[in-house]
Amino acid sequence: MDVARIHKDPKNPNSEKFGSTIASEIESSRGREITITTMAATTPFNGIGKSVSRTVLITGVSRGLGRALAQELAKRGHTVIGCSRTQDKLTSLQSELPNPDHHLFLNVDIRSNSSVEELARLVVEKKGVPDIIVNNAGTINKNNKIWDVSPEEFDTVIDTNVKGIANMLRHFIPLMIPIKQGIIVNMSSGWGRSGAALVI
Ligand SMILES: NC(=O)c1ccc[n+]([C@@H]2O[C@H](COP(=O)([O-])OP(=O)(O)OC[C@H]3O[C@@H](n4cnc5c(N)ncnc54)[C@H](OP(=O)(O)O)[C@@H]3O)[C@@H](O)[C@H]2O)c1
Repeated sequence: MDVARIHKDPKNPNSEKFGSTIASEIESSRGREITITTMAATTPFNGIGKSVSRTVLITGVSRGLGRALAQELAKRGHTVIGCSRTQDKLTSLQSELPNPDHHLFLNVDIRSNSSVEELARLVVEKKGVPDIIVNNAGTINKNNKIWDVSPEEFDTVIDTNVKGIANMLRHFIPLMIPIKQGIIVNMSSGWGRSGAALVI
């Protein structure tokens, strides 16, 4: 197995750079299994190939890595479908992209199963089944002792990072099975895999 690893460069922790790095890995890895460890995601997947334009659904595109990845993939000629909860940032992102009307941005809270179900319905109606889904939307509580993390804050982390991804898988995997095609990338964090003081 050929494993590519993308590591965060502590000297240049710049989202735009990561958008480009992740986009390159996704494009150039066709035919081999790669593991993205930047965000500690260790999900193996096959790439989408450089020469073919693909449809890529990314959750959490209003800012950060998701936005950078959306910009980079659109620049490289892929069709981007994006979601997050901040409408003005979705609108500004769409207007920044080459060929804006070609892409689809929807205001969706992935914590809501019914909203993700509606997202899947709209995506299929307007763009078909995505070739690749990047489950990027995520959140983290403030660094704290476990007993000082409020139940509300803890719920938000679990509802977004665990249940949100489950909602996406629940409504999109059944669309991919009949066509025997589809790649899912789940972003995570090193802090999701190992414990440390003040991090849960
Ligand atoms: N940056 C890093 O150094 C780093 C390190 C390790 C792992 N990661 C992982 O990489 C991913 C992206 O990180 P980031 O730093 O780019 O995060 P970020 O800047 O905080 O952006 C998170 C994105 O997720 C969206 N989002 C949050 N909750 C959502 C919800 N319920 N429904 C829909 N969208 C939601 C946010 O948009 P709205 O608020 O508009 O909805 C935003 O667009 C996360 O999964 C994170 O755990 C990042």
